[in-house]
Amino acid sequence: MAKMDLKRAIADIMRANAREHEGRRYTVPSPQAYPYQWLWDSCFHSIILAHFDMPAAKDELRSVIARQFENGMLPHMIYWQRSATAVHKYLDIGWGKEDTSSITQPPMLAYAAWRVFERDQDAAFLEELYPAMSRFYAYLLTERDPRRIHLAGIINPDESGEDNSPRFDALLGLEAVHTMEENFKKRLVLVAENLARDGKVAEMLDVFWVEDVPFNAILVENLRVLADIAAKLNHERDAEYYRSEAERIAEAMRSLMLEDGVYWSIHGEKHEKIKIKTWAVFSPLFAGIPTQEEAERLVREHLLNSREFATPFGIPTVATDEPSFDPSGKGRDKTVTFANWRGPVWMASNWFIFHGLRAYGFNAEAEKIYKDSLRLLEKSGFREHYHPITGRGYGAEQFTWGGLVLDMQETLAVKA
Ligand code: GLC
Repeated sequence: MAKMDLKRAIADIMRANAREHEGRRYTVPSPQAYPYQWLWDSCFHSIILAHFDMPAAKDELRSVIARQFENGMLPHMIYWQRSATAVHKYLDIGWGKEDTSSITQPPMLAYAAWRVFERDQDAAFLEELYPAMSRFYAYLLTERDPRRIHLAGIINPDESGEDNSPRFDALLGLEAVHTMEENFKKRLVLVAENLARDGKVAEMLDVFWVEDVPFNAILVENLRVLADIAAKLNHERDAEYYRSEAERIAEAMRSLMLEDGVYWSIHGEKHEKIKIKTWAVFSPLFAGIPTQEEAERLVREHLLNSREFATPFGIPTVATDEPSFDPSGKGRDKTVTFANWRGPVWMASNWFIFHGLRAYGFNAEAEKIYKDSLRLLEKSGFREHYHPITGRGYGAEQFTWGGLVLDMQETLAVKA
């Protein structure tokens, strides 16, 4: 696909997936599979849209903060209008609230807002978003850290954005191989448990609570960006606060998660490490948390290791030598084809690793991820996820995340 074609192809998808309701503009990740608004998807969307449609990029973030909870939480789904065509039966049941879900998703909001701002320096836009952003991050820093260990906890695997990642199997009481149905049931029970506690998340500590690596790495990077935003808007004290909180989380990640060169998600009073190798081991690069030496080790021992993450089509979400590795995108039941985080390549994980590698000067490795991603789009179109060995596409169709490849392309073009 030539340079212009990629931009045109994703612009077409973004246009086709654009929706408007009660004056709110947003983009659905996939018209059939995901006909609503999702939190981290909308952050990706605004990053993508900023390359060719700034008004839409801004509206995407305006709508995603429009249903903020009293306590500052942003829900991971907003229904806006219920779809009669949703093919994914799970979407319409059990997420908790009338017009939103009751859980959140990785906090990419500040980063996305800044990427939009960078294009036109519209400080009024940042000002407009600032109150909701500060409340959201304040919520994560307080409510999501009841033990005061300077790490944010998630109360459901879906809050990681990687719904059925094997990182959560053991805590859900699941074996490395199980069906989608079994996995989903466990996650819905957690939604109900949280609702039964009136959304008081601290009470979930004994039910399900994980300090997850990507969520916290994303939080660190976003708090730093939020500090820049606060400084730009002359909220100097806020800026200082966010900057120091970011560094405290980065330190806590180093002291509680790091072992043998790898940052592992942790859980429980004793900060037990969950040693399942997923793409998450590379996510701290996105926030510049590892030292240069640690980064080199991650690349050498894991990223470029053909027994783990080096496959013909790039970086699988789960290392190929994990018992849970399931590259087909289908799961053992072979029936449900959505949201498989147990091996397929996803464009978002590729995108995080791409930016992380560049931050450490691994430019060739980053460029390879971009090229592998582009090859997947050329071979299989804009699908939800891809087989890392055959390149075959699976899951949702007309899926927006392929647009992140455009962001990689533009990054290489601008900064080469
Ligand atoms: C799937 C993904 C999640 C995403 C949602 C909408 O559930 O696992 O990360 O936000 O689809 O695209």
